[in-house]
Amino acid sequence: MSEGILLAKVARGTLLPEAERVARLQEALPQILAVLDGETDDVARQATLACLLWETMPQTNWCGFYRRVGEQMLAVGPYQGGMGCLRIPFDRGVCGACARTETTQLVPDVHTFPGHIACDDATRSELVIPVKVGGRLEAVLDLDCPYPEGFSATEAAILEDLLVHIFDQGLLR
Ligand code: SME
Repeated sequence: MSEGILLAKVARGTLLPEAERVARLQEALPQILAVLDGETDDVARQATLACLLWETMPQTNWCGFYRRVGEQMLAVGPYQGGMGCLRIPFDRGVCGACARTETTQLVPDVHTFPGHIACDDATRSELVIPVKVGGRLEAVLDLDCPYPEGFSATEAAILEDLLVHIFDQGLLR
C-alpha cells in the first residue's frame, strides 16, 4: 500500500458528477476496510482514514477529524488540507452542530448556515458526520469542499456506515 489507495488519479479540487463520486467511494470501501483491519488505535485509524478519504474524494479541500476533548469542546485531530481551527465549541459552526445534535450535517452552501466558521474562505459546502462509540459522541468527521453541493446524501450515508463499522461495531478490533 505504499501508493495509498488504488483508484484512478483525479486532480485535487475536481468535483466529479455524483454518480462517479459514489462509485469511487464504493470502490475504495473494501480497500479502506482491509487497511484498517485489526487496527485498534484511534489516532492510527483517524489518520489513515483522513488520508484515504482525501485520496478517494478529490473534491475536498479539508478532510479529517475533530475529537471530543471536553463535555462541550472539540479539538482538531488527524487531517489533510490547510490548517483548520484548533478548537471548536459545540455551539459553533457546522462541526459544533454535528457534535451537539449527534446528527450528520450536510450543508450544500455554508453561506446559508448560521454560525459557520470560515477557516478557509474557499469552502462552500460541508459534510460533518458524528463518530459515536457505545452511544457517546467521541469525534466528528469533517469534510469541506470549495464548491456548493460538494457532497450528496448518498455519500453521507456510505460514510456514516463506514464510521460505525470502524469505530463502534468493533468488527475490526
Ligand atoms: N467550517 C467548519 C470548520 C472547518 S475547519 O476548521 C477545517 C465549521 O463551521 O465547523
